[in-house]
Amino acid sequence: MTAPVRVALAERSYDVHVGRGLLVKLGDAVTRVLDARRVHIFEDAGLPQSARDSAASSFGSLSVSRSAYRLNESTKSLDTLQEMLVELAEARLERTDAVIALGGGILGDVAGLAAALHRRGVAVVQCPTTLLSMVDASVGGKTGVNLHASIDGESVLLKNAVGQFYQPALVVADVDVLDSLPMRERRCGLAECIKHAVIAAGDPESKLSLGEVGSAMDAVLAGEWPTVADFVRENVALKARVVAADERESAASDAPGRRALNLGHTFAHAIESNTDTRVDVDNSSAHPAHGEAVGLGLLAAARLAEITLGQDDGLRREITAALARAGLPTRLSAAPHAKSLIAAMRQDKKARSGRLRLVLPTRDGVKMLDDPGDAPLAEACASIA
Ligand code: GLY
Repeated sequence: MTAPVRVALAERSYDVHVGRGLLVKLGDAVTRVLDARRVHIFEDAGLPQSARDSAASSFGSLSVSRSAYRLNESTKSLDTLQEMLVELAEARLERTDAVIALGGGILGDVAGLAAALHRRGVAVVQCPTTLLSMVDASVGGKTGVNLHASIDGESVLLKNAVGQFYQPALVVADVDVLDSLPMRERRCGLAECIKHAVIAAGDPESKLSLGEVGSAMDAVLAGEWPTVADFVRENVALKARVVAADERESAASDAPGRRALNLGHTFAHAIESNTDTRVDVDNSSAHPAHGEAVGLGLLAAARLAEITLGQDDGLRREITAALARAGLPTRLSAAPHAKSLIAAMRQDKKARSGRLRLVLPTRDGVKMLDDPGDAPLAEACASIA
C-alpha cells in the first residue's frame, strides 16, 4: 500500500490516504485512528448507491446512521447545517464518535462544520468524492457555510462567511469513485491542480509544474486511475506542506503562507457571484462553475502580475495552454462591466476595510500584492472578457 500523505500539525496531524479500492476498507482505516462506537455518514446523494453502501458496510459491527444530501452553493447554508446538527443529536453521537463526510467539497465543508459544533466537536473523516475536493477542499480543515445578506441594498451571497478551521482526523480519497464524476466536474478539479502547479514553482519539494501537468490531466480525463492516484497524491502533498506551514492563514502580511492557495480565487469569487457571467461549456453557454471561475481567475491574476510587476506574458500563455488542454474556458463569453466584478472583489472576506490583498503568480511561485486600485483590476478583468 502506498504511504499516506501526512499533514503535519502537531497534535492535529493526520494522514491522507489516496488510492484505489479504499471505500470498502474505510471502516478499518477509521478504527485504526479513532476509538468510535458510532459513526454518522453524510453522503452525497449524487454518488452511486453502490459506493455509498460499500462505505457504510465497511464499518462492520459499529453503529452506523446515514443521511444523504444534494447540496449547492445556495443550500450550503445555516439551514442545512441545522438539519445536520439535528441528525447528529438524534443519532446520539458522543464525543468519541465520528462524522464521515462522503461527498464533494460543499458537503465536506458543511459536514465538517457540523462535526466541529456537535457537542463542541466530534472527529470528522473527510472522504472526498470529486477531484476538486480530493486535491483541495478535504485537506486543510476549512469548514463553513454561505450567508445570504443584503449589503448596500443589494442581495449578495457571502461565500464561507461562517465557519471554522477544524482539521479532520483522517482523509480517505478513493480515486475509483471519480469514474462516475461528470467530465465538467473533472475539468473543474483540474483548475485547482493548475493552480497548484503554479504555486509549486516556489516549492523545491514539489514534483508539480505547469510544463509537466499536461499528461496527468489527460489521464484524469481518460480515467487512467493509477496515474490519477499519483497525481492526486502529489497535489495533496503540496497542499499539506502549505497548510502545515501556515494553518490559519496568519503568515506575516508580505509572505503568502496559506494565502498562496487563494491564487485566482478573489477574481473567481467575483465571477461566480455575478449572475451575468457566462462561459462556453460543452457547446452551450453556462454560468461558470467554481473550477471554471478559478481557471479564469488564474489568468486575470497573471495579467495583474504583468501590469503591476512588469512580468512578461509567458506565464499567462502557459496557464492558458494548460487550461485549454484541460478543456477549461480561457475567457468569459458574457461579462458584466468590470466595475461590478471589482465591487464583488472588494466584498471578499479576505479584504480589509474594502482593501484587497491579492495573490499573484510569478515564475518563482506566488507573491502578495496590496490593493492596486481600480484601473489595474479593470484591465485584469478585461483580459478574460
Ligand atoms: N482552498 C484554499 C485553502 O484550503 O486554503
